[in-house]
Amino acid sequence: KQPLRIGLIGFGCVGQGFYDIVQQQPDLGLTVARIAVKSPTKPRTLPTEHFSFHADELVADSTLDVLVEVIDDPAEAFRLVSAALRQGRRVATANKAMLARHLPELVQLEQDFGGALLYEAAVCGSIPIIRTLDGYFSHEPLRAVQGIFNGSSNYVLTRMSEEGSDYAAALAEAQAKGFAETDPSLDMGAFDPRSKAVILAAHAYGVLLEADEVLNLGIEAISAADIAFAAARGQKIKVVAAVQRLPNGHVTALVTPQLLGPESPLFTVEHEFNGVVIDAEYAGPQFLRGRGAGGHPTGSAVLADVLALRRGYRYGYAKRANAPETQLTHALEIDA
Ligand code: HSE
Repeated sequence: KQPLRIGLIGFGCVGQGFYDIVQQQPDLGLTVARIAVKSPTKPRTLPTEHFSFHADELVADSTLDVLVEVIDDPAEAFRLVSAALRQGRRVATANKAMLARHLPELVQLEQDFGGALLYEAAVCGSIPIIRTLDGYFSHEPLRAVQGIFNGSSNYVLTRMSEEGSDYAAALAEAQAKGFAETDPSLDMGAFDPRSKAVILAAHAYGVLLEADEVLNLGIEAISAADIAFAAARGQKIKVVAAVQRLPNGHVTALVTPQLLGPESPLFTVEHEFNGVVIDAEYAGPQFLRGRGAGGHPTGSAVLADVLALRRGYRYGYAKRANAPETQLTHALEIDA
């Protein structure tokens, strides 16, 4: 049987992590056939002849079975992914900012042209949260989905409390370890977890929230004194994202720092780890915890998507038991 041919667009932290774990597992029957990068001059771990400098060539290359898009720039990612979907291609992406902005158009393109788009790596790194909401929990309504969705800010808060590191030093560590976005204010200002909350709202409730309508407060203003205040009471400060359906039927999302005590499962989520509590109507609350950032953990989620694309998996977007037939709908268009 011929190996599945992958076109990899982007070779930064996640692209490199994905490439490594594909190379280390030859039995999977995958080959990274082409890699596209932006800069011809940046030093890389593979010789230059492995790279194309025109991602459009990969999008147009019909010998590639699956495209993996792991670049930084959401506008360029949208241009490439939408072009690929217009050709009915199968695509895995990790670009949460692109998805939070363009999910309805992307889902429409997927449906119109018969392609497929998966993005487990875009939310909470290695934690299989989208697949869990989309596949497993389709049998019951959800009360809420909440958690720590940003590894970098959680890393900074953890380092500030355990070592008494200052904010700038802890952020530099998170950047050096490959957890932070190129623009770290997306992490520290909670814009990144806000994008992830918007994506999870689509899968938990079939609802599209506008990212700009979701309040996000980050950790820039949190001082060592605030962390000491919490610690003196046996608490920790964590940035918690909460997505829930209100009794009037509206879905809301919010991302804010909170004081958590040991009774919360999120209390145990430290460093770059993320955690998600799914509160389901009949199953009750469940807690997933895993690495939310970094090349190998995020590359692992991309790889899971590539294998799912090979077997024809597509997202269902919250078609839930006991709920009216839902389709992806803008939150403001839902009647209370
Ligand atoms: N910058 C992100 C984080 C990477 O820190 O969580 C994973 O999406």
